[in-house]
Amino acid sequence: MAILEVLHYPDPGLRKKAVSVETVDESCRILAKDMLQTMYENNGIGLASTQVNVQKRLVVIDLSEDKNEAIYLINPEILTSEGTGESQEGCLSVPEYYDTVMRAERITYRYQDLEGKVIESEADGLLSVCIQHEIDHLDGKLFIDYLSPMKRRRLRKKLEKQEKQEKQEKQEKQEKQEKNQAKIL
Ligand code: NI
Repeated sequence: MAILEVLHYPDPGLRKKAVSVETVDESCRILAKDMLQTMYENNGIGLASTQVNVQKRLVVIDLSEDKNEAIYLINPEILTSEGTGESQEGCLSVPEYYDTVMRAERITYRYQDLEGKVIESEADGLLSVCIQHEIDHLDGKLFIDYLSPMKRRRLRKKLEKQEKQEKQEKQEKQEKQEKNQAKIL
């Protein structure tokens, strides 16, 4: 199993629309397992393929405390939705940012499992929110798109600054290391 790189906002890859999985085969199952491992590694409860820069409609979710109740959704789609409620959300692609967005309370949905079997089910609470959030990812949409443009602009600036800072620190550390190595000679 491999840990994949998770794209961070504002990476343009997060805006790509994923295409349907035609046949659920071994490569699809391997991607699903890698995505699950990546999600666990980052302490997330949901991950969509778009976030690891793969444009196939595949989602992994695990809401359990012990990380042992994985749900794999291939080609997930919402059939009906009912009610609206506030949801406090974060996202592995928008690090350390949380905000409230409106989501449907109850949904019915259809997907294929890892064997390609078509399943219809219903969800409410956290699972309902999570499925809506992840399907948005497959369509190139982020939860921060529901915020006001001003709030989003501010957030983008903050994250770009953060990323720049991290890059700089990394570079300085590397330069220091190279210097140290030179002395060892
Ligand atoms: Ni997300």
